[in-house]
Amino acid sequence: MEFVDQLKQSVSIVDVIGEVVRLKKSGARYSGLCPFHNEKTPSFSVNPQHQFFKCFGCNEGGDVVSFVMKHEGLSFYEALKSLAERYGIPMPKRTGFADEETKVRSAVHRMHELAELEFRRQLAGDVGAEARRYLAQRGVNRESIEAFSLGYAPRTNAITKLLQRENFTAEELDQSGLVLKRDDGSGFFDRFRNRLMFPIHNESGKPIAFGGRALSAEDQPKYLNSAETKIYRKSMVLYNMHRAKEAIRKEDRVVLVEGYMDVIGVYAAGVHEVIASCGTALTAQQIQAMRRHSMNIVVNFDPDAAGANATERSSQLLLAEGMRMRMISLEGGLDPDEYCRQHGSDAYREHLKNAPNYFHWLAGRARARFDMRSADGRYQAFQTLLPAIQSLTDKLERVAVANDVAGYLGVDSSLVLDNFRKMAADRGRGAAPAPRETLRHTDRILISVLLSNPECREELIAFIKPLPSIRSGAAGKIYEALITLQENAAPITYTAVNNRLEQKEQDLLASAFLTGDAESQVATQEEAYACVEALIAEERERERTTLKTKIREAERAGDHTQAMTLSAELHRLSARA
Ligand code: UTP
Ligand code: MN
Repeated sequence: MEFVDQLKQSVSIVDVIGEVVRLKKSGARYSGLCPFHNEKTPSFSVNPQHQFFKCFGCNEGGDVVSFVMKHEGLSFYEALKSLAERYGIPMPKRTGFADEETKVRSAVHRMHELAELEFRRQLAGDVGAEARRYLAQRGVNRESIEAFSLGYAPRTNAITKLLQRENFTAEELDQSGLVLKRDDGSGFFDRFRNRLMFPIHNESGKPIAFGGRALSAEDQPKYLNSAETKIYRKSMVLYNMHRAKEAIRKEDRVVLVEGYMDVIGVYAAGVHEVIASCGTALTAQQIQAMRRHSMNIVVNFDPDAAGANATERSSQLLLAEGMRMRMISLEGGLDPDEYCRQHGSDAYREHLKNAPNYFHWLAGRARARFDMRSADGRYQAFQTLLPAIQSLTDKLERVAVANDVAGYLGVDSSLVLDNFRKMAADRGRGAAPAPRETLRHTDRILISVLLSNPECREELIAFIKPLPSIRSGAAGKIYEALITLQENAAPITYTAVNNRLEQKEQDLLASAFLTGDAESQVATQEEAYACVEALIAEERERERTTLKTKIREAERAGDHTQAMTLSAELHRLSARA
């Protein structure tokens, strides 16, 4: 496992996690919103010194490899490989830990890379002429074709042939999602034929699926998308996320549109923070994926009925996930792609800048449906907004928004608040977190130095090992882990210690070393030795107390010989102290 340690030393956990979580530095550590559960205040913490992450909300924790495994749904081997590739560290040839599942997944990845190249090649070649004409007619220039790796799937089973030429097995072909089995069992044929191909990438920029658009209206369906495979789960992926995420952070907003073509059009207009779901309703996982980069979203769905439906469904979910939402409605019934082409980038960016927040947008629509001249009409308009306001998770925000919208609609706010308070009161508060056990000061200092200071580790352990007091109490299991590692001559790292602990002690360790409450993260050697002295003194005191009790018992029992022996021992002990 030498390679694993070498890898862990060469990659920065803050960089790797920082790719997918917006991290803020606070003291010696970094914090952000946990990517593994739904939260609005950060309880996710990364400690670069110990090369460890921990979420105090959902208890997920580990080193950089387990982060990548968990976050990207990879096996141990795949996570190593992915990190090694990213950091240009050569993997050893011996791939002992690649299991069957891993092999299939890596074959499917490889097949997608090959397919993407092949589709691009076909688009540039003779058979791609019609698709190129189609793109030109829709105003997609060469730059966009390159940027989005657009391609063309010919009618001729190009992918089946390619994959067979590359010696992928029938089982691997079957798992690829790129080809289909013939009914008579005589082999495979291409899933995508005569289509314009949009590769879909995961957050690390690897192609994992495709959307294929028909070139004529007769050809149905308009879009054919990859089926789910071992590497592609629709509900988790957002189209263009890997290209958009930097801009999303920089602009601190996501622009969400409906279609592949919309993403390409809006991106070409210079708005790079644009993404879309891949032909499915927006899911909570997708929202969580964007929320790691920004809490602000501008929704720009199509103005048609399908778009209105999608807006309705998505907005509920977005509010529930705590996103701050603004809305764009484009005039002339145009979708974002058409709008950018007809009115230009500046006009689109103007819309983006002036997009009203969701509640004002909703109120604007309600206004059109009710008689706003009468108090009754205004109140009815207000009431249509209540369900949306109720889905805000923060109580203060609910009241603030209700007030704001009431003002906007000209509704008497006393009337509103009465009604509203009742509903707000019905919503229960979340359960308070259980009080956490903490390490005492001495243990915190000692463990901190043992973890981070190899020079005095051996000596310190020699001192504390004989002390029975370190075995009891909250820190006992942690000392035990440290001592065992030392005895086995194993490397002593935060992760190694953590791996030997049960959940309860893992939490204890994390709360002492990975949170901001711990004033100074690393204690000095001097402090550690002072603690050892204190512990030894404490131990002697305890021994003396025990002896005194025993002496008293012996005297009471009339056993004077025993009392004398014990007294002599007590003397020796006191002289030593
Ligand atoms: P649209 O019909 O709005 O497509 O569907 P579009 O992206 O604007 O494409 P053009 O402009 O007509 O070429 C929006 C999205 O819904 C999914 C696709 O992801 C598409 O981008 N969709 C649509 C499908 O999955 N299947 C379909 O048959 C149609
Ligand atoms: Mn369109």
